[in-house]
Amino acid sequence: MQMETFPTFQSPEIIIHSANQLLTLAGPAPKRGAAQGDLAILRDGAVAISGDKILAVGSTLDILGLADSRTRKIDARGKIVLPGFVDAHTPAVFAGDRANEFEARLQGATYLEIQKAGGGIMSTVRATRAAPLHELVAQSRPRLEAMLAHGTTTAEVKTGYGLNLETELKMFQAIAALDAEHAMDLVPTFLGAHVVPEEYRGREGAYVELVVEEMLPAVKLKVKSQKSKVFCDVFCDEGAFTVEQARRILTAARDWEFGLRVHADEFANLGAARLAAELGAASADHLMVTTRDDMQAMARANVTAVLLPGTTFGLGKSNFADGRAFVEENVPVALGSDINPGTCWCESMPFIIALACRYEKLTPAQAIVAATINAAHSLGLADRVGSLAPGKLADVLIADVPDYRHLAYRFGANPIEMVIKRGKIVKSQIDP
Ligand code: NIG
Repeated sequence: MQMETFPTFQSPEIIIHSANQLLTLAGPAPKRGAAQGDLAILRDGAVAISGDKILAVGSTLDILGLADSRTRKIDARGKIVLPGFVDAHTPAVFAGDRANEFEARLQGATYLEIQKAGGGIMSTVRATRAAPLHELVAQSRPRLEAMLAHGTTTAEVKTGYGLNLETELKMFQAIAALDAEHAMDLVPTFLGAHVVPEEYRGREGAYVELVVEEMLPAVKLKVKSQKSKVFCDVFCDEGAFTVEQARRILTAARDWEFGLRVHADEFANLGAARLAAELGAASADHLMVTTRDDMQAMARANVTAVLLPGTTFGLGKSNFADGRAFVEENVPVALGSDINPGTCWCESMPFIIALACRYEKLTPAQAIVAATINAAHSLGLADRVGSLAPGKLADVLIADVPDYRHLAYRFGANPIEMVIKRGKIVKSQIDP
């Protein structure tokens, strides 16, 4: 491959060279069908970084030729280099925990039974409403730290533990504060329709109207992101919102120019994936009980399937989403950690990749595409992150494994040795 460079007179501050495999993920996004596993690997590859951008990608010989006396050269011999992971689905901002519910589930209670009895999401809503902003930020920060240390450099973050305007806006403030102070880039999503809060029990329609008439316009007015779209998501499932309610909220959100995401088919297939297709949503997420017909509708409408194997694992269930079927049906597949206090407290994208390969039938290459460029595509960021190409943000990982398959093959330890975010080394276990 020819060296590709970004036109600039800057010399590189950092060059990572001699990688056993440099996974560029280059090529059109999203990668779907036969391209879902296309890592575009360079052997003995190198990447040059200038400021917050990738300056050049190519062979070690060519790229080292760009170095001058100021360039820091990092030797990745025997290792792999890849783009920072993009996490397409996280409710990572919340207060408290639900370890008690985890134990209750181990003793036989189901997630939906706990929710019906007043626990579940509502229990985190109570804790999140009670937490002052600084406390919510302080409790969420270590989770972002752990995600970054495991290689995640961009993450979608949902609200959805406020369920009243005041707390939903407080959650957006927490996301903005964390985005400003933390290396990771955060993409905000409004999930005011996570469940119907307890004070609206028996008046579900009134809550839907509140979301549509009050919350969406207020969020539109008050929440801005310089880095990405703001998204709106609805949990359309048994125990949450019906298809008609979800359609009403998402149609209004589309009118307000939010990007759309849908929690679909986690517990029951109500037709939520099909609704995502009907509305041209950016993503449908979970998809544990989705039919081939629904997948075909998603493919026709270019909806990305965001699979969350950590959630199925976290619930101790075995009906994992059928990732291979989505690939066969030409649906672009992305991955998310779904880090949340109820179903999946997992900060590690490498572990999510390991699960996706074992239980969702993705190959290691397909899972890595899902955790990088396809997740970026689902967030509208494929032109900036998710692959190693000149001009893109310098979000780069070094993993201490000799071959990309080891990212899925090994599990339980953290293979990510260096994390570079926007050109800055934010984690390093390599001697200078
Ligand atoms: O993605 N399904 C809805 N939301 C989360 C669970 C949130 C919770 O239980 O707190 C999920 O699994």
